Amino acid sequence: MKKITVKTKSVEYPVLVERGALAQVGKIVAKMLPSKKSRCFVITVAPVWTLWGETFKKALTTAKVDFTVLEMTDGERAKSFASIEHLTERMAAKGADRNSVVIAFGGGVVGDLAGFLASVYMRGVPVVQVPTTLLAQVDAAIGGKTGANLRAGKNLVGTFHQPLAVISDPELLTTLPDREFRAGLFEVIKSGVIRDRKLFEVTESERKSLLARDQEILERVIYDCARIKAEVVAADEKESDLRRILNFGHTIGHALEADTGYRHFLHGEAVAWGMAAAAMIGTAVRKTSPELAQRIVSCVLAYSPLPEVNSRAEDIVRRIRGDKKAVDGKVHFVLATSVGRVAIYNRVPDDVVAHAVQELHYLSRN
Ligand SMILES: NC(=O)c1ccc[n+]([C@@H]2O[C@H](COP(=O)([O-])OP(=O)(O)OC[C@H]3O[C@@H](n4cnc5c(N)ncnc54)[C@H](O)[C@@H]3O)[C@@H](O)[C@H]2O)c1
Ligand SMILES: [Zn+2]
Repeated sequence: MKKITVKTKSVEYPVLVERGALAQVGKIVAKMLPSKKSRCFVITVAPVWTLWGETFKKALTTAKVDFTVLEMTDGERAKSFASIEHLTERMAAKGADRNSVVIAFGGGVVGDLAGFLASVYMRGVPVVQVPTTLLAQVDAAIGGKTGANLRAGKNLVGTFHQPLAVISDPELLTTLPDREFRAGLFEVIKSGVIRDRKLFEVTESERKSLLARDQEILERVIYDCARIKAEVVAADEKESDLRRILNFGHTIGHALEADTGYRHFLHGEAVAWGMAAAAMIGTAVRKTSPELAQRIVSCVLAYSPLPEVNSRAEDIVRRIRGDKKAVDGKVHFVLATSVGRVAIYNRVPDDVVAHAVQELHYLSRN
């Protein structure tokens, strides 16, 4: 099994990537349980459990792991304190104790919420992440960030709680809806742009195989993205300088998502437009060559269709100014300096941002 070790100041844990890994989950988890009497609480959602529950159950049963399945409501709206309360009450009623282990079996929503509840249940029990979306396998499940949404905004509450292990099986992605799958590919492109020239070139040259979900190539890119995230997280567990590079395309991406009430774009789609905008901004402030900007924009557009951009440029500028990641009133833009290298730049004039958003209007209609 392909294995990456994430090393943080406090802990070390493996990220395992392999086709068919789901069938090994029981064996892997069994070795990690804090005690022989440990019980597992599997947090999942109906779409995942219906498709993959049998394989999952068999894997745990064969390895003689005691488990209880707790389904939560599917969707971003369920990433709430209400779900945490409901799930932890059910855990307590079923006798979950300090030696229990939470297994998050789903996309980023399940991973964030199950990670959060594991970090607070009895002041913290371990969590194993078994991500089932491309976004979760390449990004959300690694790094220990957990969270829930408030009415006032997304991910406004959360904890850092590193998992015991992350187990990623590319076969799970064969049942992912097309739009969700493509949205995840934009995070793959992002990983290439920020840190790995070869990975970016694979997204350029292997578009057909990637879109066809060719298992061999998927396994490879998931592994590469996991390695990149692990490197960044290891260097910088609590989000400051290095971790910021993961936000390439996210400054404008987040603003586009918020401006459309989180209903118009999937996260990865907003990031796709954000990366195109960052490429153009980079050119305007002379950090990104026109050739590189063109390559990034072309690569993003090759994975279309993408929802149209209709937000007003001035609304996006205003939202970026209010971005929670703005420190000292300065907005940090991650800009590409060459393929696989980025720099943080905090002096982008508002009119340059506005102009890039207008370009997105044009690009998204052609
Ligand atoms: N913690 C982090 O570092 C981090 C990073 C990025 C994103 N996130 C969070 O991740 C969340 C988004 O995650 P997501 O994009 O995975 O969305 P998601 O968890 O909502 O999953 C998307 C949809 O796909 C379905 N699904 C999942 N796996 C499937 C499968 N194998 N086959 C068929 N259907 C399947 C789900 O039921 C859901 O309807 C957001 O809440 C975001 O804030 C967290
Ligand atoms: Zn993202």
